[in-house]
Amino acid sequence: MTSALPYANGPIHIGHLVEYIQTDIFVRFLRLIGKDVVYCCADDTHGTPIELKANELKIKPEELIARVFKEHTRDFKNFLIKFDNYYSTNSKENRHFSDLIFNRLKEKGHIYTKEIEVTYCEHDKRTLPDRYVKGKCPKCKAPDQYGDVCESCNAAHKTTDLVDPYCILCKNKPVKKSSKHYFFELSAFSKFLEKWIKENKNLQPEIKNFVLNWIKDGLEDWDISRDGPYFGFNIPGEKDKYYYVWLDAPIGYIASFANLIGDATKAEKEWNSSEIIHFIGKDITYFHLLFWPAILHGSGFNLPKDIVVHGFLTVNGEKMSKSRGTFFTAEEFLEKYDAEHLRYYYASMLSKKLSDIDFDFKVLREKINNELVANIGNFCYRIISFVNKNFNGEIRDIDDNEKVIDEISKKIEKIKSHYENYNFNFAVNETLLISDIGNKYFQENQPWKLIKDDKEKVQEICALCINIAKNLSILIQPVLPKFSEELQKQLNVKNLQWKDIDFGLKNHKIGKEKILVKKIEEQEKEIFPLNLKVAKIIDVKDHPEADKLYVLQIDLGTEKRQLVAGLKGHYSKDELKNKKIIVVTNLKYAKLRGVESQGMLLAGDDGKDVGILTIENAKPGTQVGIEGFENSSEQISFEQFQKLKIIVKNNKPYFSSKEIKAGSESIKAEKVKDGARIR
Ligand code: MSP
Ligand code: ZN
Repeated sequence: MTSALPYANGPIHIGHLVEYIQTDIFVRFLRLIGKDVVYCCADDTHGTPIELKANELKIKPEELIARVFKEHTRDFKNFLIKFDNYYSTNSKENRHFSDLIFNRLKEKGHIYTKEIEVTYCEHDKRTLPDRYVKGKCPKCKAPDQYGDVCESCNAAHKTTDLVDPYCILCKNKPVKKSSKHYFFELSAFSKFLEKWIKENKNLQPEIKNFVLNWIKDGLEDWDISRDGPYFGFNIPGEKDKYYYVWLDAPIGYIASFANLIGDATKAEKEWNSSEIIHFIGKDITYFHLLFWPAILHGSGFNLPKDIVVHGFLTVNGEKMSKSRGTFFTAEEFLEKYDAEHLRYYYASMLSKKLSDIDFDFKVLREKINNELVANIGNFCYRIISFVNKNFNGEIRDIDDNEKVIDEISKKIEKIKSHYENYNFNFAVNETLLISDIGNKYFQENQPWKLIKDDKEKVQEICALCINIAKNLSILIQPVLPKFSEELQKQLNVKNLQWKDIDFGLKNHKIGKEKILVKKIEEQEKEIFPLNLKVAKIIDVKDHPEADKLYVLQIDLGTEKRQLVAGLKGHYSKDELKNKKIIVVTNLKYAKLRGVESQGMLLAGDDGKDVGILTIENAKPGTQVGIEGFENSSEQISFEQFQKLKIIVKNNKPYFSSKEIKAGSESIKAEKVKDGARIR
């Protein structure tokens, strides 16, 4: 079992977690029913995004990927993702299998070389891959577009197609050069792939359609090499050519497995005699349903039995966005919520369908409070405490209520098949219905009354309820492993497997009750309309068209942005450089005299002087706001911003008589008098 390998250039966010939680639930379910399953994953460490991020941080790629590896494994552990092995694509095993597969494909004539045109910077003496060159989009002429795709019109292009290109390192105009590249003969696999997709009974129908259409439109051969400098594996026999990251990335699945069992030959054998299932997001379908099976087949490896494709996570119905404040890292989520809250939320939304999943904190709260707490949590707590109070924790015989047992047994069968078919939403629903049945059965028998007349009967009723609770602890285990463990502890049972689901627990003493899950309290926070962050100015240039404006490049910790600011005459460039400022990050982007401003820095203006807000210690990216207020996650227009009254008092910024701070650190308004308006 595998999940896609996350890129080692940034943190795990709640979007990624859809997939790792989905796979983990499936793996835990398989283990529970007694399958011999191995779950492997790794960091995807090669390619330009990694190289660029390392440049930005002024560290070596090796240092970056080591750092990110620590963060990723920490996050996965916190979210209870139980890999058998989590590895790196920058490993000896991955180099071994990449070369092995490359050589086999080459021997079979599936790889050939061809001269192509590339973009080259004479100043930096290097080829410029797509993220290293910018220019006008060849289609819509939008300025400042990268060499692969235009963010304005979404059209794809090549670096050599850009109009007025410039090197992002030195801003010089690059030249076109001819270079030998390696191509994988994907087109030759069209028939094979078509047959494989059509005959595969597991793949989702929507995905089959997509892929068959791509095949019908004609497959192009795939450029699998990149010119140096490139962070990746050297192509055998070549000095300065490397495998394109997407060649060695999926091979990382095999490499991670080989690292686990410690023997490459054995790993290949095992791979070929096992059922392989990949979980991926819909954005990487092309790579996994065309390139990857063709490569595996061409080099004599077993093809996956299934590739499960999930949709994307949106937040409040839209793509996650840093500027709207709807981008949450795994770490940030855990500041306020539990890992199992998110696991439960995703499980209750995930199905075999390809549809996107929306995340909404209000829905999260409702689900946890009304389903998990009020339903399962409440039933288990109620019955365990009742048995402890009235029977000293002991159950003897069980009430043979056929109706209840039958109804529940049917649901259990259904739940199993829902898990098997990746319909975790239905599995969760049916599980809730079982605790409903339990709750109703307990309630209707009114044991608190009956106990006066027939204590023995009540103890039997309790025994049936304890058995239901035990079964619930197994049924929900793939989704909520911690919850399940705690519940089993209270029931005084351990490590139960699917085969232990029954009504056979009798003459047993249970343990003490404890609240299993707590309600998520409504957060009565007011909303501060701005999303402010600390940023550091890294570069200042004159605006090409306006003599009062500067163009600033700023570092916001997790991202960089460009601002246009009217500070000329008030600050020199040198004064601004390296200063830490306060930036409105949720302001609508605007063009000021032709140059894009991606936010705004805050400065006071008392009619005479203009002075920016600065901060001493807080790092770039630190949230700035008012205690007790939540920073807005919605975008704000310039007009709305202008209506806000932020003023300077004692050299500090205030909003409706509350101080604006970065955590506990105060912010300083330079140069201006008290009463100055901040804008
Ligand atoms: N490195 C490649 C995968 C190589 S696999 C041989 C990659 N990395 S990624 O970090 O961008 O994404 C990892 C997985 O997370 C992908 O399957 C991707 O679809 C998934 N997701 C990333 N953002 C996502 C959402 N917002 N929502 C749901 N899944 C998302 O792609
Ligand atoms: Zn250059």
